[in-house]
Amino acid sequence: MSTPAPAYSPGLEGVVAGESAICTVEGGLSYRGYGVGDLAAHCSFDEVAHLLLHGELPTARQLQDFQTRVAAARRLPPPLRDLLAALPKWTTPLDALRTAVSALGHFDQDAADNGHDANLRKAERLLAQIPVAVADQYRLSKGLQPIPARQDLGQAANFLFMLRGTDSPSEEVKALDVSLILYAEHEFNASTFAARVIVSTLSDIHSGVTGAIGALKGPLHGGANEKVMDILLAVGGPGQAEEWTKAALARKERIMGFGHRVYKAGDVRAGILKGFARKMAEAAGETKWEDTADTIERVMAAEKNMFPNLDWPAGRLYHAMKLEIPLYTPIFAMSRIAGWSAHVVEQLDNNRLIRPRSLYKGPGPRAVTPIAGRGA
Ligand code: ACO
Repeated sequence: MSTPAPAYSPGLEGVVAGESAICTVEGGLSYRGYGVGDLAAHCSFDEVAHLLLHGELPTARQLQDFQTRVAAARRLPPPLRDLLAALPKWTTPLDALRTAVSALGHFDQDAADNGHDANLRKAERLLAQIPVAVADQYRLSKGLQPIPARQDLGQAANFLFMLRGTDSPSEEVKALDVSLILYAEHEFNASTFAARVIVSTLSDIHSGVTGAIGALKGPLHGGANEKVMDILLAVGGPGQAEEWTKAALARKERIMGFGHRVYKAGDVRAGILKGFARKMAEAAGETKWEDTADTIERVMAAEKNMFPNLDWPAGRLYHAMKLEIPLYTPIFAMSRIAGWSAHVVEQLDNNRLIRPRSLYKGPGPRAVTPIAGRGA
């Protein structure tokens, strides 16, 4: 009796590849049972990071302890700062971050311990160190001195402080914080799945996160939030938006920030962040990119029945906050580290090697001709 052919779904579309208690997209996106809209309305990113890593929303005391531990870890080993300064000046911030996370693995005091508690300690340190690495590399690449992290600020406010060296308006901190909540977790997306595949060999969290950052980089995933602003700048303004979009679609181009493997009727996160993007654009006195985006949204819905994903408003929000485009995907990573780490811990707590099969399409069986007989 022959074994039945394994089921095949290109790109693993629709395939359930494991169990998880962290997040579901069924019945609306939720993290550990809490709707993402509810979390965005009532929590800070720091609370959500605690929820993802430790399983529950923190009490006031637990939050204070968590923030104290994270704030204390907001520094880079000096040799890593030297390494960041030595990178070629064309290195993108996301590539630098991938290198930084890999290097951080050498310095972590729990490097040799792959147990549950050690992984949570390493996860908290990565949550603290990633924004420092992004901000330090950004400033070093511009010939500026890095700004020491503040101990008294949450993740969003501290990141902006390290970039700018000044306190940011509370509306900006809030908008960034909400974007971090929305980016924090999304079940078996490509980067998280990559991290799970890596640690399923019993590899370590720094290897998993380094691989996840590599997966995040591509424009079909996290890299899209940078491409969104490139597209809007190429369009030039609302007056050209309809014609530009129709022409791009006729050329079979992808409009980055639209479409999703799972959400075919729209991404709830995009709807939540859109209001923040417009408010920030109004505060900056430049609503032209919001108006351009509205027209593109209308054309995409009418022509392709396709709707924005989270990257669409996120790119505009960060632009309105006057953040430079190459920082957008690193900001995604700064948030998604909470989800990646939660998945690494979950995978290793109940591990089974992730090793699927392929559907062979190559030549049939054939005999080797020794090299002397293969011609010139
Ligand atoms: N613009 C125009 N056409 C699109 C887009 C888009 N953004 N996305 C998909 N399509 C079209 C494809 O060309 C294809 O058309 P065809 O059937 O005529 O060839 C059809 O829709 C299906 O596309 P697939 O790539 O098979 O759909 P899939 O489920 O694999 O795509 C993906 C999901 C990769 C996100 C896709 O929609 C895309 O490339 N979007 C742009 C990149 C992007 O915004 N990524 C961010 C994802 S969300 C996140 O990371 C937070």
